[in-house]
Amino acid sequence: MLICYTKLMKILGIETSCDETSCAVIEGKGKKIKILSNIISSQINLHKKYGGVVPELAARVHIENIIPALKASLNEAKLGLKDIDAIAVTCGPGLLVSLLIGVNTAKSLAYALKKPIIPINHIEGHIYANFVSLNHKSQILNPKFPLLCLVVSGGHTSLILMKNHGFYKILGQTLDDAAGEAFDKVGNLLELPYPGGPWISKVAQKGNPQKYNFPRAWLGESLDFSFSGLKTAVLYEVRKLKIENSKCSVRLKISSPKANKLKIGTISDLAASFQEAVVEVLVEKTIKAAKDNKVTSICLSGGVAANDALRNRLKENTKDIKKEFYVPGKILCTDNAAMIACVGYSHALKKDFTHWQKVNVDLDIKL
Ligand code: KG4
Ligand code: ZN
Repeated sequence: MLICYTKLMKILGIETSCDETSCAVIEGKGKKIKILSNIISSQINLHKKYGGVVPELAARVHIENIIPALKASLNEAKLGLKDIDAIAVTCGPGLLVSLLIGVNTAKSLAYALKKPIIPINHIEGHIYANFVSLNHKSQILNPKFPLLCLVVSGGHTSLILMKNHGFYKILGQTLDDAAGEAFDKVGNLLELPYPGGPWISKVAQKGNPQKYNFPRAWLGESLDFSFSGLKTAVLYEVRKLKIENSKCSVRLKISSPKANKLKIGTISDLAASFQEAVVEVLVEKTIKAAKDNKVTSICLSGGVAANDALRNRLKENTKDIKKEFYVPGKILCTDNAAMIACVGYSHALKKDFTHWQKVNVDLDIKL
């Protein structure tokens, strides 16, 4: 149960689990939360040329960016470090060396300022992105329980039942690739820039989602997911299309490097058909889980929640079964520290603090 505090509480959030260095300040009073700042320094341009995140490089850049991000978050919130009541930091899951930067920054601040730390699970952060809003007014802690959250990111695909703050039950998760990972790998197959997710959703807008009938892994009645077969099916289709293209150019006596490339229309159809397969499985399993568990609200979160096809389809289907639907603004779907500070606030209300000496990176952190 949440204890209703009447005192204003200011929480500094720190997130460095992957390739975003982020610091945020939120202000909470009772059941109301307001984002005062949410600074996100993305490393996408750095990792783009390698086609994925290089952990060692990510950690080095977190070291360069963490103090500027911290300063910027305090400046934007018009606060000094002394005004902060507690520090919420992502302790896992994520990249070990990246997490170490955020956790050790939080520990140093906690030691120097004599402030408590709240260690946060990154997945819990994604869920809580649904409890804050980007508008400048305070927001009442919604949505209503029991709720079901579909967390879809680069590292996770989980259906989580939440009976109250802090009470989680994992109903299903991916058996192989995470949804975002599948988007990124298929983006790579279609020779789109990294990360593939936003590019696939962009090119899919002009494609035919019914052009290729890619497989859906329903896994019987299970609420688990599997995307590796779908990814392989796209790979085989791309290879087949490229062979057909090159045979055609031999017949027409065209010899150019472009002969082995897919046409933009074909890429759009492949992207749209792949996206349709992912969205269909994610939405159907979420609706089934919501009905079976008689939830009041359905929430969507994680980087893949920025996908319009998924947002729209889940919203429509949730309306059909008369549940409430929540999805964060797009900037709060991908990694950010405001969502981490928001979980921190819910722990702070229960006085659930940890001394800095007991805080460590925990890759197997439990929900
Ligand atoms: O939550 P996030 O920022 O990091 C992790 O915790 O993994 O999620 C990043 C993932 C990437 O795989 C990225 O391709 C995917 O979210 N993503 C999208 C979209 N925007 C980001 N996937 C599909 N459609 C999008 N619009
Ligand atoms: Zn994430």
